[in-house]
Amino acid sequence: MSVIFLKRFLQRPFQVASIVPSSKTLIRKVASQMDLSGPRVVAEFGPGEGCHTREILSRMHPESRLLLFELDPELSEHLATQFRDDARVAVLNTDACELPAELAARGIPHCDYVVSGIPFSILDPDKKRQLLRHTFDSLAPHPRSAFIIYQVTNELVNHCRHFPRVESQYCLQNLPPMFVTKFYRMANGHTNGHAHPAVAHAVNGNGRH
Ligand SMILES: C[S@@+](CC[C@H](N)C(=O)[O-])C[C@H]1O[C@@H](n2cnc3c(N)ncnc32)[C@H](O)[C@@H]1O
Repeated sequence: MSVIFLKRFLQRPFQVASIVPSSKTLIRKVASQMDLSGPRVVAEFGPGEGCHTREILSRMHPESRLLLFELDPELSEHLATQFRDDARVAVLNTDACELPAELAARGIPHCDYVVSGIPFSILDPDKKRQLLRHTFDSLAPHPRSAFIIYQVTNELVNHCRHFPRVESQYCLQNLPPMFVTKFYRMANGHTNGHAHPAVAHAVNGNGRH
């Protein structure tokens, strides 16, 4: 049990939106959606106490960059301390909506992957729309580029029509079980062969589970 995570949940339940961090199985499923064999730029939205971050870093090429967007100041501080010796990491105590500005500030044209653990289902519709648009615009126009989310419901599929391709799988070994969904930036995106019937179901408009 992560004490800092539980503490921040008790202080900001609607922002943190979970009592326990992701399970190891979910973490591995999410990380395996990315080809991290070469130098990549990855943005992580809502890293919390850093459980996905540690896995991503363990797989990441030494010349990669990882931008962490964490709204909670205490969790951000915890992340900054935890990853202070890793030059690939930038901890940003700011809203994920700032992704385009933060990329521009670093002279980075695009990112290869955006991984998100933020609770999209409780964001207001305008905020959700803006964040999804910024995410799409920040991804490199490359067949590999993708936005990867883990969520209790697959309702985001209905808001991501501008992403031309989607793959989804269900991870039962997490509390609560979650969908891991990958939205490709391009129609001919590289598949990892995990297409799941849930996608057809969700894309057909009944994405709520
Ligand atoms: C459900 S927790 C996920 C934590 C962690 N990734 C995990 O899997 O255990 C959601 C996290 O997103 C952060 N968050 C919520 N809205 C955000 C936003 N708009 N920008 C950046 N971080 C946000 C919260 O502070 C919280 O740490």
